[in-house]
Amino acid sequence: MKVLVTGVSGYIGSHAALELLRAGHEVSGFDNLSNSSEEAVRRVRELAGKPLAFTKLDLLDADGLKTLLAQGFDAVMHFAGLKAVGESVEKPALYRRNNVDGSRNLFEAMQKAGCRRLVFSSSCTVYGEVKKNPVDEKHPRSAVNPYGQTKLDVEDMGFALSKKDPRWKIALLRYFNPVGADPSGRLGEDPRGTPNNLMPFVMQTAVGRRDKVRVFGDDYPTPDGTCVRDYIHVTDLALGHLAALEKLDSFAGAEAVNLGTGHGRSVLEVLAAASKAAGRRIPYEIAPQRAGDAAAIWADPALALEKLGWRAERDLDAMCADHWRWQKDNPAGY
Ligand code: UD1
Repeated sequence: MKVLVTGVSGYIGSHAALELLRAGHEVSGFDNLSNSSEEAVRRVRELAGKPLAFTKLDLLDADGLKTLLAQGFDAVMHFAGLKAVGESVEKPALYRRNNVDGSRNLFEAMQKAGCRRLVFSSSCTVYGEVKKNPVDEKHPRSAVNPYGQTKLDVEDMGFALSKKDPRWKIALLRYFNPVGADPSGRLGEDPRGTPNNLMPFVMQTAVGRRDKVRVFGDDYPTPDGTCVRDYIHVTDLALGHLAALEKLDSFAGAEAVNLGTGHGRSVLEVLAAASKAAGRRIPYEIAPQRAGDAAAIWADPALALEKLGWRAERDLDAMCADHWRWQKDNPAGY
């Protein structure tokens, strides 16, 4: 298939583009490069040994989107968006504009071009305060911050589009916590500034860029008192997108599917696995709980297996080994 990838130079977009090329698809991508580097695209080309057309473009450029979509694509994988929870609380309008208005522009350009296959990067954040683990797709949705609200809004746009025009086929993939890197060590997560997320912070500490990790809370009602999350290898996640793309025509309009492993791991378990991978003790201290963190959330991944024939294969040790290889070989990122 001829696939357009939005946010192609970002962490998940670049890994998805690589797996699409490896599977024999033709890939074009765009990014506004606000939080990523075009070097990621060059490395995807080098790893795949195949061309990947790149355009610097912003989702807010509605005319630019229409021109690009007019090239004719079979499907779009939509990753472009802002994703920092804290920043979204400070700048809710920025998040609405980029993530929601930007997605609307994209969908309008797709409709105009007659491209109605879409795989969207949603998040387990749409489950809001989790009532029971593991979480399945029927769990009620709610937003606990403006970032989460944008994911809900774009999901709703997807449901509305397919209701209005049943030719739309949309996979709303709800990711749990993506970590890891392509095993080559050439592609990986390269957050600008201080990382908000656990794994990049842990690995930057292991490589000496940070003094120590702060473990946000050890008094949660979990086995070791630290928060539990469902970490998933970014390559597994990318392969989940590929599976969704290949099964999209069997979708009844827009459908949500969890992409997680089904296993919850604590912050201390992640630190232990990361220390093992890096071959050194990673210093940490216990800090107060971070506002807004849930004690525990992990996925029920059954629907992904049933609908997409996909399941996560890589364990926490592989996630840490691959993330570490990327960090060690690229200590300052791209
Ligand atoms: C966060 C967002 C989520 C978003 C995802 C991707 C919140 C509440 N949720 O998920 O909506 O989809 O990022 O960007 O922000 N931790 C530490 N020390 C650190 C960093 C994290 O102990 O320096 C702990 C956190 O308390 C948490 C776990 O590590 O329990 C994972 O944190 P993080 O990587 O930020 O992901 P989430 O908070 O699960």
